[in-house]
Amino acid sequence: MRIFALNFMIFVLCACTTPDLPIKIKFSHVVAEHTPKGMGALLFKQRVETRLAGKVVVEVYPNSQLYDDNKVMEALLLGDIQMAAPSLAKFGKYTKKLQVFDLPFLFNDIEAVNRFQQGEMGQHLLLSMERYGYLGLAYWHNGLKQLSANYPLHVPADAQGLKFRIQQSHVLQAQFEVLGASPQKLAFSEVYNALQTGIVDGQENTWSNIESKKFYEVQHYFSETNHGVLDYLVVTNAKFWHGLPPEIRVELADILSEVTVAVNQKALNLARTARQKIIDFGIKTDRTHVLQLTKEDLAQWRQAMQPVWDKFEHEIGKAVIEAGVAAN
Ligand code: LMR
Repeated sequence: MRIFALNFMIFVLCACTTPDLPIKIKFSHVVAEHTPKGMGALLFKQRVETRLAGKVVVEVYPNSQLYDDNKVMEALLLGDIQMAAPSLAKFGKYTKKLQVFDLPFLFNDIEAVNRFQQGEMGQHLLLSMERYGYLGLAYWHNGLKQLSANYPLHVPADAQGLKFRIQQSHVLQAQFEVLGASPQKLAFSEVYNALQTGIVDGQENTWSNIESKKFYEVQHYFSETNHGVLDYLVVTNAKFWHGLPPEIRVELADILSEVTVAVNQKALNLARTARQKIIDFGIKTDRTHVLQLTKEDLAQWRQAMQPVWDKFEHEIGKAVIEAGVAAN
């Protein structure tokens, strides 16, 4: 009788803690499907539904169909979605440390970004939002950012007095303020319209985002500055993740590692082809010009933006910034 009662209790306990199968993962993001993140989310879905068939299904919602990035984190906590991958610029509410990725001219190239992300400090930062209930699972590349405006931007003085759209980030705000420009925080879904109607004069983003959202149709000049990085943190609700049956969690983590490698390889190619498409559009229409900056011009941008590092050192932490520098 006692054994029966014990077995019954174990059965009830398991029934309560094991989620119903298939487990549904809703993955929400704001970019187009033919971008590093868009392709990564779809590849994740494809591999999960092959290797965990009947156990896990993944629904991907691109193009801000479900949420803008300022709502997506709340949705994760509420359990309305289970995965997202906002840009690293958008976590300032939950951790100041990830702001390191927004520091202008911190990383020389995407390989340095990768070394930092995969190194000890980068891996440690995945856990920097635990107390808010979020868990970073992986970093995905998009690429380096370029500046654009309806006026040619060769040197920092050219940006003075212009309005630029920025992501939700105090660091990016400071980056434009030190130029004497006026930064405006807008959701990604609002950028095209803001550029078209003149709410802002310019913006900064990666070649892939500029091309996939057709910002080149509403901007005359692109300056190839590579002045900062726009990458992603694949993030989940920590309680959801730790509540998954262990064998499913391990398999999901394995798939995510493989997808991360694929996304990061793809990102570089996508940046190249997107850049070329914009150049070709410019040649065809004479409406868009990609400006190559000289070494001297770039040195001016670097110097003009440098005060931002000091301003945020106390929030980000000296050790985190030093690890970023060392990755070069
Ligand atoms: C932006 O808001 O410009 C980006 O964060 C969009 C994205 O997800 O790449």
